Amino acid sequence: TTILVLNGPNLGRLGTREPEVYGSESLADIRDSIAGAVPDDVEIDLRQSDDEAELIGWIHEAVDRKLPVVLNPAAFTHYSYALRDAAAQLKQAGVPLVEVHLSNPHTRETFRHTSVISGVATGVIAGFGSDSYRMAVEWVVRNR
Ligand code: DQA
Repeated sequence: TTILVLNGPNLGRLGTREPEVYGSESLADIRDSIAGAVPDDVEIDLRQSDDEAELIGWIHEAVDRKLPVVLNPAAFTHYSYALRDAAAQLKQAGVPLVEVHLSNPHTRETFRHTSVISGVATGVIAGFGSDSYRMAVEWVVRNR
């Protein structure tokens, strides 16, 4: 099993970006910790892009290859209908999508209280720092 773990804009700067909100781990640290939490036959394919088009292309790839997706859409969570429409194709194809967030957006600014992605996600895990990712991949592994 391959799990695509996709990360949106600014998440390449984890570790130095607002550590009091997002923690001190880098995205590479998060990849190492989730790779260590899954069985040996599971591959974690973690990617990050600041580019909406690239993220949409990766979701199309997941639809075509039927790969489960763990997605932190970052700021696109709140307004990218294009990413939502891509993610809807996962739902249509019966491919699981777990939306994750490091922080709990509901405790933050009002613009973060809306997710345009959640309506097409299998489920959402938010507020547990890098453990949000770990719990998401564990769920995918248990349900593959
Ligand atoms: C985030 C929350 C978003 O509101 C924000 O734009 C991010 C990160 C999180 O993981 O907590 O970039 O998705």
